[in-house]
Parts: sequence; structure tokens; C-alpha cells
Amino acid sequence: MEQYIIKGGIPLVGEVDIAGAKNAALAILAAAIMTDETIVIDNLPDVRDINVLLEAISGIGAIVTRVNRSTVKINGSTISDVSVDYEYIKKIRASYYLLGALLGKYKHAEVPLPGGCNIGSRPIDQHLKGFKALGADVDILHGSIIAKAENLHGSHIYLDVVSVGATINIMMAAALAPGRTILENAAKEPHVVDVANFLNSMGANIKGAGTDVIRIKGVEKLHKTEYSIIPDQIEAGTFMFAAAATGGDVTVRNVIPKHLEATTAKLQEIGCEVEEFDDAVRVRASRRLRRTNVKTLPYPGYPTDMQPQITVALSIAKGTSIVTESIFENRFKYADELCRMGASIKVKGNSAIIDGVEKLTGARVSAPDLRAGAALVIAGLAAEGITIVDDIVYIQRGYEDFEGKLRSLGAEIEKVTCEKEIQKFRLRVG
Ligand code: UD1
Repeated sequence: MEQYIIKGGIPLVGEVDIAGAKNAALAILAAAIMTDETIVIDNLPDVRDINVLLEAISGIGAIVTRVNRSTVKINGSTISDVSVDYEYIKKIRASYYLLGALLGKYKHAEVPLPGGCNIGSRPIDQHLKGFKALGADVDILHGSIIAKAENLHGSHIYLDVVSVGATINIMMAAALAPGRTILENAAKEPHVVDVANFLNSMGANIKGAGTDVIRIKGVEKLHKTEYSIIPDQIEAGTFMFAAAATGGDVTVRNVIPKHLEATTAKLQEIGCEVEEFDDAVRVRASRRLRRTNVKTLPYPGYPTDMQPQITVALSIAKGTSIVTESIFENRFKYADELCRMGASIKVKGNSAIIDGVEKLTGARVSAPDLRAGAALVIAGLAAEGITIVDDIVYIQRGYEDFEGKLRSLGAEIEKVTCEKEIQKFRLRVG
């Protein structure tokens, strides 16, 4: 089992390039099967979730050709099976995007129900409500969602909760549903806009993505395109907080600063200097961080996927902070691990009350999920002494060469697999 070993206490300094957005890429790859022509997708992050989804897509018969690390060609003309294997859905929930894509194209999709996830219960009732409104019969049989329609048709759909996944899934199916669809209370995340732009570049007619009303005019078919995925705002934000927590000076490049506004605002509030360029952001932390309060909200609010990272920074900030999680119910599981590193955090309901301590100290901790795992790495980078992070397989789901990028900023971090390698690291860093 791979682990990270980190010697903390070194301010991160330098420049780092951000990869394409994992969450946009997951939906765009699924949508790529919606035409029989060849799609070329660029700026793909080389992370586990993406590679699993590509396997799922070839598993149903599409031709997937990896041109290089960040470019893939997909041809969906050879799809022979509208039923996705449980093996894939078990590994990544987002393979449920194949429901919307297959239903739109073939009017039939069978996808196993995604299992529970360790950040709380994650229902998909809004996705199914949307498919039904578009004319599909939706049944759950033997653990799978079976969506079928003689004909799909446009519809007026109001989402009861703002859901990124439901917005994208419904948008995909509606792109090929004759008539007009109006999707109200839609999610406004940058990756919703990116998926809409991608579908439009395939010939779809989608307007209003990025606002809470999306209007879709169903088209008969979609065609080939070449498309480059937007930069990953969460990877970028993670490096910004790594700079803040280590008292560093880091420029994150290949970003869209507008997508980072909530993160930037919070970094400024806690005492960092943030400078914006056209496609880069520089974060400098030259003094001890200050307290603040934050509540996670749908975009453009502060992202839930950046919640553990800010908590780590606040754990060493001056004063008492409150972090409130309003999207997922079980997203503070990492707090106990942080406390083992000397943080003082009490979780009450969906809030964490954080009394900032002077410093964290290295310990052996375990990554409970993707973003919390990355946050524990940040804690290790900021802490005094050695930290070992177990279960980094979660981190690898969403961060491309995390340790390599951190090392390029001066961090002492290595991926290790055995005690001998741990000893070697300890001897080297002294
Ligand atoms: C996506 C992101 C995830 C991010 C989340 C919120 C991907 C692959 N994942 O997840 O990283 O943390 O957005 O920004 O893009 N809900 C329902 N019924 C539904 C759907 C959702 O009640 O049918 C609820 C969820 O339980 C949650 C809230 O709505 O409380 C938001 O979830 P949603 O936006 O759907 O998250 P995901 O798309 O799963």
C-alpha cells in the first residue's frame, strides 16, 4: 500500500501548473459517446478516476485511444452494450454520467446504483426525476437503474436541490430529446458550463449554463469535436492553501482566476496576499494566518471540495474559526486525524469549531477521502517533523502527480511502499 511521507516545516515556493478539471472531464468523457463520430479531448488530468471511467467506456464497446497523457480520442460508434458494469460504478460514482449519455443517445441505459460514499449519503433522486420528466421509464431492478424510453421529449424541470450531477446528467439526456427543456434551479459550477460548452461544440443547443436556468433545444444528433477541458479549480485551490499553511509563496498557473474567487477571498481574509494574473494566481503568506468563518455553498459560494483544506489552514491560524458544511453531512471525518497532529477541533453537527494552535506536529494519519487526504498532506507540509499519510489511493483519484508537483515547490515528500523506504527518507532528511 502506498503512503506519503513528508518532512514538514518548509515554506512552499515556486510555480506549479494545474491540470484539467477532473469533475468536468468525468462528464465530458461520458458525453463523448453521444455521437458516432470521433471526439478528441485535451487537457485531461491523468488521475485514477479518469482512467477508471475510460475503462468503463471501453467496457461498453466504445473505442478509446490515449493519444498522450492528457489527450484521448473516443469513438462511440461501436457501443454494443448499454449496461455499465458494477466494477466501475463501485470505483467512481461519476460513472452515473453514462446514464444521461446512453439514455440520450440510445433511449436506454442500465447503470448500477452508485454505492454510499464516505462523505455522506448521496442520493440521485433528482437525476431520476429529470429522466422521468424527459419521458423515460426509470426502474430500479437488482441494484441497477434502468432508464428506457420509446421517445424522449423536452420538459420543464425544477431541481429540488442544487445538484451538479443532476444538472449535468439531465442536460446530456435533454441535448438529444426533441423539443425544449427548461432546467430550473440548476447548478452553476464552472464544470457545468464546461460540459454545456462541450455539448454545444458537438452541435447541441444549450443556453444559460452558469445561471440557474438552463434552456436546451433538443437536436437530432451530435457530431465530432475537439475540446480542451478547463483547469481544475479544486487542484488550484489546494495548492493555494498549501502555500498559505506553509507560509509560502506559490504561483499556480494555467487557472481561470474567476473560478477561484471564493478561495481567493477566504485566503485574503486570513491574511494572505493574493495576486491575480490572466491565467495564474500568486499566493503569499508572510505572517501568521488569522481566523475566519466559512460555510460551504453551491458555486459561486465556497466549495465543499475546499472545506478540509481551509480547515487545515485555520487549525494553525490565530483565533477561533467556525467551518460549516452545508452540502455533505459527513465531511469532517478527517478532523480526528488533524487532532492527532495537535489541532484543536470540535465537530458539532455540521460545524467544526477550530481553536488555532501555534503549530501542528507530524504523526501517522490516514486519508478518509480525496479532498481530506489532500488536506492532511497540507497539514503534514505545515507540521513540525515527519508525517505519514496512509490510504493515498484516495488522493490519487483526483490529483495528478501530487507529490511531484509539491516537490517542485521545495516540499520534502515521497511516495513510499515499505518500511525500508520510510527509513531511507528519514535518514535523508535527517
Ligand atoms: C459533485 C462533485 C463533488 C462536489 C459536489 C458538490 C463530481 C464528480 N463531483 O458531486 O466533487 O463535492 O458536486 O459541489 O462532479 N443531492 C440530492 N439528490 C440528488 C443529487 C444530489 O439530494 O439527486 C444532494 C446531495 O446529497 C448533496 C447536494 O445535493 O447534499 C449536492 O450534491 P451534488 O451537487 O449532486 O454532488 P455530486 O454531483 O455528487
